Amino acid sequence: MKVKGFLKDVGGASRVTKRRQENFDKAPATSQYNDPITEVARKLHPGFIKLTVTAVKDASPTARTLRFEAPHLPYFRAGQFLTLLVKIGDSLVTRPYSISSAPYETRGDKPLVEITVRKSKGDGFICDYLYEKVKVGDEFLGEVGLGEFHYDYIRDAKDVVAIAGGSGITPFASMAKEIKNGKLDMHLTILYGSVSDKDIILKDELDKCECEKVRVVHVLSGDNPSWKGEKGFINADIIKKYSSEDTTYFICGPQVMYDFVKGELAKLNIPKRRVRFEVFGQVRDITKFAGFPVELKDKVFNLTVCKGISEQVIPAKCNESIAVALERAGIKVHTACRSGACGFCRIKVLEGSYYVCPVGDGRRAADKDFNYVHSCSTYPTSDIKIKLNID
Ligand SMILES: Cc1cc2nc3c(=O)[nH]c(=O)nc-3n(C[C@H](O)[C@H](O)[C@H](O)COP(=O)(O)OP(=O)(O)OC[C@H]3O[C@@H](n4cnc5c(N)ncnc54)[C@H](O)[C@@H]3O)c2cc1C
Ligand code: FES
Repeated sequence: MKVKGFLKDVGGASRVTKRRQENFDKAPATSQYNDPITEVARKLHPGFIKLTVTAVKDASPTARTLRFEAPHLPYFRAGQFLTLLVKIGDSLVTRPYSISSAPYETRGDKPLVEITVRKSKGDGFICDYLYEKVKVGDEFLGEVGLGEFHYDYIRDAKDVVAIAGGSGITPFASMAKEIKNGKLDMHLTILYGSVSDKDIILKDELDKCECEKVRVVHVLSGDNPSWKGEKGFINADIIKKYSSEDTTYFICGPQVMYDFVKGELAKLNIPKRRVRFEVFGQVRDITKFAGFPVELKDKVFNLTVCKGISEQVIPAKCNESIAVALERAGIKVHTACRSGACGFCRIKVLEGSYYVCPVGDGRRAADKDFNYVHSCSTYPTSDIKIKLNID
């Protein structure tokens, strides 16, 4: 057998080894490697950043807009949310809020981002704190630009009908401002359901956005005899009236509105690919879901939290998610959507049993097999041991 170039190859290999050794000897002691892609990704998604409150203003008699500024705000897409980390007492809690300002406002000399928080009807925790207590100068950690609820010209039709209820108007306010400023090319008709005209959130800002490409239709469901506009719930007739032949529907509001609107869209035979729902956050009452062991609802279990080599035992109520138990104990858990969808709060269950909320269960099949769960939508049904990531 004749091997062509064999000696040349062997000689070459020894030269490579020598050159490698020379480079190794010349190399500095610390890593000099700068990956430009990683750098860009870091700038776009810097994780939690410091946000300073620079303005607090009323957005309706029951909602308030908080303006945050930061030296370097990451870019986001109109419709996305930010997650705010809030410390109340011993609890370290996060909540998602759709960004109500427009992406173009994060550029320029004074980059800003705004959220609009509605106060509760008496059963709120973070929302009432944000509504009542926050003042100019307060500082928070927040993660800006999360979620999939944004317009995409490749996937979505040029005509968009947005269906909003209550504080669900916020992502559409952001889209409307971006369109009005010529930064987003789509036609947006917002069907905004409120009980009365006093409940309309961000009315002035929405009025200012009305133009050839943005239309806002208020639909009032309460008893408003002097109201000349659309009345009742946002039903199939109203949706049809404001739709074109090719429309994408974006829906954001309370869970009850989702159930109703889903039925109305089904009457109009709208294909699923044309309908986009925002996630609705943590469920108010898990005991109402099929399969939840109601007989255990008042039980408090031991939750053993393993992080690295440390172990801590904390109480965990059966009717509260594992994420809430961790937060009550002041243990930081990385959450974003709080709806079971995104996987940011993924943990491994080492021992014990649990119930997973069937709505919005975004776990991968392999995760189910290997006992990984999303802590924001998982409830302990026995003493339980979990492993947290070290961050
Ligand atoms: C994508 C998205 C966007 C949103 N955008 C907006 C918006 O623009 N505007 C808006 O107003 N809302 C918005 N929300 C809703 C918002 O995230 C909050 O759910 C809402 O403000 C209510 O918060 P809350 O803490 O008062 O009540 P909940 O979120 O319902 O929390 C109450 C729960 O907190 C837990 N809890 C109680 N005490 C403690 C304690 N001491 N420690 C730890 N946990 C405790 C308990 O489990 C209790 O059930 C959005 C939600 C999602 C998912
Ligand atoms: S925070 Fe998104 S799945 Fe838990």
